Amino acid sequence: MPFMKIILYAPCFFLATIMTGTMGCHHPKASDSIKKDSLSVDWPIYGGNAAGNRYSALSQINTSNVDQLNIAWIYHSEPDTTSGILHPEKSDVQCQPIVVNGILYATSPKLKLFALEAATGKKIWEFDPFQNRPRRMTTCRGVVYWEEKSDHRILFTAGSNLYAVNAMTGKSINDFGDSGVTDLHTGLNLNYDVKNLYVAATSPGVIYKNTLILGSAVSEGGDAAPGYVRGFDVKTGKLKWVFHTIPEPGESGYDTWPKNAHKKIGAVNNWSGITLDEKRGSVFLGTGSPASDYYGGDRAGINLFSDCILSLDAESGKLNWYYQTIHHDLWDRDLPCPPNLATIEYKGKKTDVLAIATKDGLIFVLDRDSGHSIFPVAEQKVPVYGIPGEHPWPYQNYPVKPLPFSNQIFSDSDITNLNPSSHAFIKKIFDSTEHENKFLPPGEKGTLLYGYSGGAEWGGNAIDSNGILYQNANNQVWILQMQSRSDYLKNNKSLTPAQSLYNVNCSSCHGMDKKGNGSEIPELISLNKRLTESEIDNILQEGRRRMPSFKKLSSEERKTLILYLLNSKQFINGKVNMKSAPVHRTQPYDPPYRAKVWVRLLDPDGYPAVKPPWGTLNAIDLKTGDYLWRVPLGEFPELTKKGIPVTGTENYGGPVVTEGGLVFIAATRDEKIRAFNKTTGKIVWEQQLPAAGFATPITYAVDGRQFIVIAAGGGRGLRSGDTYVAFALPSDK
Ligand code: HEC
Repeated sequence: MPFMKIILYAPCFFLATIMTGTMGCHHPKASDSIKKDSLSVDWPIYGGNAAGNRYSALSQINTSNVDQLNIAWIYHSEPDTTSGILHPEKSDVQCQPIVVNGILYATSPKLKLFALEAATGKKIWEFDPFQNRPRRMTTCRGVVYWEEKSDHRILFTAGSNLYAVNAMTGKSINDFGDSGVTDLHTGLNLNYDVKNLYVAATSPGVIYKNTLILGSAVSEGGDAAPGYVRGFDVKTGKLKWVFHTIPEPGESGYDTWPKNAHKKIGAVNNWSGITLDEKRGSVFLGTGSPASDYYGGDRAGINLFSDCILSLDAESGKLNWYYQTIHHDLWDRDLPCPPNLATIEYKGKKTDVLAIATKDGLIFVLDRDSGHSIFPVAEQKVPVYGIPGEHPWPYQNYPVKPLPFSNQIFSDSDITNLNPSSHAFIKKIFDSTEHENKFLPPGEKGTLLYGYSGGAEWGGNAIDSNGILYQNANNQVWILQMQSRSDYLKNNKSLTPAQSLYNVNCSSCHGMDKKGNGSEIPELISLNKRLTESEIDNILQEGRRRMPSFKKLSSEERKTLILYLLNSKQFINGKVNMKSAPVHRTQPYDPPYRAKVWVRLLDPDGYPAVKPPWGTLNAIDLKTGDYLWRVPLGEFPELTKKGIPVTGTENYGGPVVTEGGLVFIAATRDEKIRAFNKTTGKIVWEQQLPAAGFATPITYAVDGRQFIVIAAGGGRGLRSGDTYVAFALPSDK
């Protein structure tokens, strides 16, 4: 068959181009691992290469044959999916695998690390991080590979630990850290006791020489640990350096906070990943807002280094430069994805830049040496009122270019028009809340804002060899309403101890009404239908993903809460009687205001409050800042059937772009993976997955055959899954 011959010929030609080094990965491991004889190309690092570009020079799968792409193999990572940990609509897999020397490494929904033959999906080994310790469910977006001579390691995090595992055997490397494990609380214990506070690392770090540079995920409330960035020795697991994202006395940025803020305020963490510039020996990363979210009365100032893009020296952790995207953040506008590195021609000059996208739909393009913005950024006056004691910063950044890729302000004309009753429902809420400016300080009346679940999210973005950025985006309105501590404590007087325990500790996330937020945060009304007393106690003690641990509550307090939530007869009969009313104990800091309502604003049918599109994929030329195309990403088939143009859906997980002229992305609520023509934005292939692919795909080649792999872990209120699905063109038969 003549057609087949073309397919078989293509990889040899294009892989030859890679070997010349003109378009290959920027990481030495990547070029080492391109085996000239067998035509194999790895995906050795989270994000594809150290520059985080989610780009591949492979072109065997291309616009002319992508329609023949089919399932090559499926790997079930949790054969026993009935176990309690795998909550059917909460369990997910955000992991983007890596492939090194033809072996694929990734994690399961229960965070088991595994190695597969990348060509066949056949399991080589599996490592359970919770074999000898309580299962502490956190998120793992990827793993890191390191090698020196015959020493091959995978470093990854689960719970509050960093693990080193032999990449060949799957056995723990016992001379790393404490018997193969380094506690992620290491180096954070500077100003207050962090040992019982939630510390994890959801995105993998990067390795420079023998240093692993790692961020963290911490609580966003008053019990937040500090989000310092750290360097660990890859061989010993020991701490090498710490960068204080909340500066200590004498350090640069200290004067942007009140005097003792560093002793009580936490977070300002990098949870979204890091990219490495090997030539400069620098890492680039984005930080998050200070704790607690939405209230800044106790932290007057611009609060460096929160919401900053940082350039750090990879070997020493010293600050090269910073660029603050949001001053004195009151909106939880953490930088949500790792920067991408690119070299663009700007005003006739080749410039090394980084590009980073934000939750509120902006893209900052900065010079990598100076940290200066390539395009003009306007400083504009913003509202300065707010809840008592608040100090909103009077100016904020408005990049002039590129234009925003998601909505900025929710206006009357943006209210959904799916049908008259959903319009009327949203209009009523619109009229009773504030929404005029994206920098409105949170208040007790309630504000409608974008930017809590995108614009950009943690999947990160892709950049091709022409400097085109591929960016997926969400358009979701959220409602945020604050409540004062004196208010909820006053109310507490008439409450039972259990209700007051609930209000103080749980309601800020699960809601005063226990209804959750409809997606990530579950309702707790019908708990007795799905969990037992001991299962809940385990969740309270260990925490789970974004829910912090409540070890700080006594066992009596936990028991009271659990029986209350289970609506237990024992509780109703009053047999459980607390000796005294519970003490309000939020450590180390107790903000006087907190969110009472913080949910997506949805119409009565569960669709977003804003007119479509709800999810988009965008192509932006970084050289000019102009958009090449924007298309909806994802579909609600039931709406399309009614004749409504494709709306796009909320999406989580980033794109991958290839030299075959394709952008691959899953991420949508319709549980599909798609390929778009990268020049036109047209969908050229799509396939249903066993569960939603809320993760970023990868591509690689083994022995001349190109594969696309995506984790189909579902979750976010949809069915969960445990599979990794590989696609390839039909092999030569
Ligand atoms: C910072 C936000 C936050 C706070 C505060 C919080 N939770 Fe949660 N909780 C979550 C999230 C997010 C999940 C879903 C975890 C997952 O991904 O599985 C969850 C899950 C749970 C679950 C499991 C529900 C299920 O169906 O699997 C229980 C039970 C629970 N929370 C109880 C509590 C109680 C009791 C408190 C107060 C002591 C509390 N939570 C405080 C965010 C929070």
